[in-house]
Amino acid sequence: MTDLVVEPQHKPLTGVVPVPSDKSITHRALLLAAIAEGESVVVCPHMGEDNRSTLAAIRALGARVSEQGAELRITGTGLLGLTAPAEPIDCGNSGTTMRLLAGVLAAQRFRTVLIGDASLSRRPMARIVGPLRQRGARLEGALDPSRPGDVTAPLEIGPLPAPNVLSALAFESPIASAQVKSALLLSGLWADGNTIVREPVVSRDHTERMLDGLGVPIERVGSVVSLDGHAFSGSLPAFSLTVPGDLSAAAFLLAAASLIPGSEIGVRAVGANPTRAGFVDALRLLGGRVELAPERYELGEPIGAARAGFSELHGATLAGELVARSIDEIPILSALAARARGTTIIADASELRVKESDRLACMAEVLRAFGVGVEETRSGLVIEGRPDGPLSAATVDCCGDHRIAMSAAVLALCADGPCRVLGVDAVATSFPRFAGTMRALGASVRAV
Ligand code: S3P
Repeated sequence: MTDLVVEPQHKPLTGVVPVPSDKSITHRALLLAAIAEGESVVVCPHMGEDNRSTLAAIRALGARVSEQGAELRITGTGLLGLTAPAEPIDCGNSGTTMRLLAGVLAAQRFRTVLIGDASLSRRPMARIVGPLRQRGARLEGALDPSRPGDVTAPLEIGPLPAPNVLSALAFESPIASAQVKSALLLSGLWADGNTIVREPVVSRDHTERMLDGLGVPIERVGSVVSLDGHAFSGSLPAFSLTVPGDLSAAAFLLAAASLIPGSEIGVRAVGANPTRAGFVDALRLLGGRVELAPERYELGEPIGAARAGFSELHGATLAGELVARSIDEIPILSALAARARGTTIIADASELRVKESDRLACMAEVLRAFGVGVEETRSGLVIEGRPDGPLSAATVDCCGDHRIAMSAAVLALCADGPCRVLGVDAVATSFPRFAGTMRALGASVRAV
């Protein structure tokens, strides 16, 4: 077990650093390259373990992969060439791997079992199993004792029953979930007819942008997306993509700069997709000084440099579509709210209860440990900021969750003594070089 030891930060954070390649875009690029025709080249620096789970999965399904540094050359099997894996596919800690892969496997004529670690094996899967079954796929999960009616991993998927083709689907998702939407759109590549998904608000749209970039007939109107299965040619071309940096990883660095007086930092070439960049808008609402503007595009994805500097923060209300666009950044936004003057209300975030951990409960514990007043509601947090003087030094548990661990480490910079974040091994799922990157900016963060 690794812990992080963080010293109080008495001098500004400065510098310009890279972050790992965008986790969401990398998952999609690997999966689509695996079913494309011919050799795709995907460049994804500092890939975390979650993406490695997807990489191992596509290898197990018959895609050929050669890896040279950050460059992956992937020879796809075409849509009809995936082969049965020799054993269950281990998705590790990665919900995106399991749910997106389920969409692909639902259309195959062989059986696959998907397993995951203890955290992933607790996560809700009925949200994909239900609609995929509706279009004729065969999926079985384990009954979930904590959520009646839900199922969890292990998931047994396929073989696709007679008539051996998925049907059209019009699905109204009760939650804004890019994983649900993407699983259904990917399965739609093999379906006889349209795939239509409506969400309450638009979730991150990387799958739509990438499919569109590869010539798949996909249309969007508001929060409805439809893929025309009849107009689709039935094959995907190979492609080249340099994946941008992950704004969700950059968020921890931008937040640290916002909290430490005198700081000015930059992060190179991060994804600036507006359905994903709610963190920037939320930080501005809290009074932060942050910039992110698109400079170029790759496969439909805007990319730009991000910058942030110290600013006095104030309380705000974060709710609705802003929360959907910053769903993975709510832990670090809570940490920022802990140093903002006044009250911050976070609402409409009940999805956080079924992420890698119950992020509302876990973040509330972390904030309390640092001496910050916080009330947990059913779907959010009410945080009384403590901007004057340092926070109380603490030893905190991160519930085995990478985003809680990094949020706690950032907050620890503002404490009145050394702090310890326990059991941070999961940081490697998304940001293997987090501690080193913080040190490059001038912080004292050590893994022990
Ligand atoms: C992701 C979608 C989101 C997000 C996750 C990555 C994706 O999950 O929290 O980290 O890449 O599609 P939900 O679809 O469950 O909201």
